[in-house]
Amino acid sequence: MKVLVTGGTGFIGSHVVECLLENGYTPVVLDNLSSGIRSNLADDVSFYNMSILSKEIEQVFKIEKPEVVIHLAAQVNVSTSLKAPVEDAATNILGTINLLDMCKKHAVKKFIFSSSSAVYGDADTVIDEETPTSPLSFYGTSKLVSESYIQLFQRLHGLSFTIFRYANVFGPRQKSDGEGGVISIFINQLLNGKTPSIFGTGNQTRDFVFVEDVAKANVLAIKSGENEIINISCNHQISINELFKLLAAEISSSATPNYLPGQSGEILHSQLNNQKALQTLGWKPSSDIHTHLLKTIEHFQSYRS
Ligand SMILES: NC(=O)c1ccc[n+]([C@@H]2O[C@H](COP(=O)([O-])OP(=O)(O)OC[C@H]3O[C@@H](n4cnc5c(N)ncnc54)[C@H](O)[C@@H]3O)[C@@H](O)[C@H]2O)c1
Repeated sequence: MKVLVTGGTGFIGSHVVECLLENGYTPVVLDNLSSGIRSNLADDVSFYNMSILSKEIEQVFKIEKPEVVIHLAAQVNVSTSLKAPVEDAATNILGTINLLDMCKKHAVKKFIFSSSSAVYGDADTVIDEETPTSPLSFYGTSKLVSESYIQLFQRLHGLSFTIFRYANVFGPRQKSDGEGGVISIFINQLLNGKTPSIFGTGNQTRDFVFVEDVAKANVLAIKSGENEIINISCNHQISINELFKLLAAEISSSATPNYLPGQSGEILHSQLNNQKALQTLGWKPSSDIHTHLLKTIEHFQSYRS
């Protein structure tokens, strides 16, 4: 079965492509390489260098006739969304609608979407899928608006979907420059003898989920999770200070962090209940955070050598 993966040269998308191949699917990738890297994909994976905003994407649907679309391409930075909300909305909302329109026109059977815990905003409880949404950033808002369009395309045109709201994803191939994930940034700085910075007190907590587990959820959703919104998380929160200590210990670094003022739009605490993923997809995290942190450190160490 052919599966179109938008954003397939990116961090999560490239793991989704690998997982599709391992499970006998034929991935086709559409990505404009704005943050993705072609070498994240095997040479023989079909690749179209195009923007999801372009009218040209219709050619991809005509030529490849995908049965499923896994949509990951996005403007992914919270702070960019606050500085450039128009750009964020164009890629995240209009790009998603452009794809949905093509799915409708070309009889795609299922649309699998990467949304985010950013749709919930701050919550002082463990968040499940019924928790009211209240984004703190335009990024969170653009994901939430896209979710509404996806649900309406299902109601009006019968396009099935699964919407995933990921917690903080980490693992091999995550970028550590610019606004990459905090884990890849800390690992690279510690490996290079630099002093990592922590924004705010470091007592803010996050729920970290391993990228290979996120990829598995996407592949499971091809055959399950019909018209559901599902959290993908470890259901465990860890503070940035604790995370720093863990990584520094694993890397045998004696570095101490440099504390900087907190960032606007930043969520203070985040823990997502993942029971629905177990019930609807049979999905659960494959291991604990320590094992996955070690795997991530090994990746960055081998990348350096
Ligand atoms: N990384 C996380 O912790 C996290 C958490 C929640 C949700 N998500 C979502 O998961 C998805 C993948 O994120 P990621 O972390 O792999 O980021 P990433 O930046 O590595 O991947 C995004 C990909 O989209 C591509 N892209 C961007 N704009 C495009 C456009 N206009 N047309 C075509 N391709 C375009 C980029 O080149 C890149 O390959 C995104 O939708 C993101 O919002 C990520």
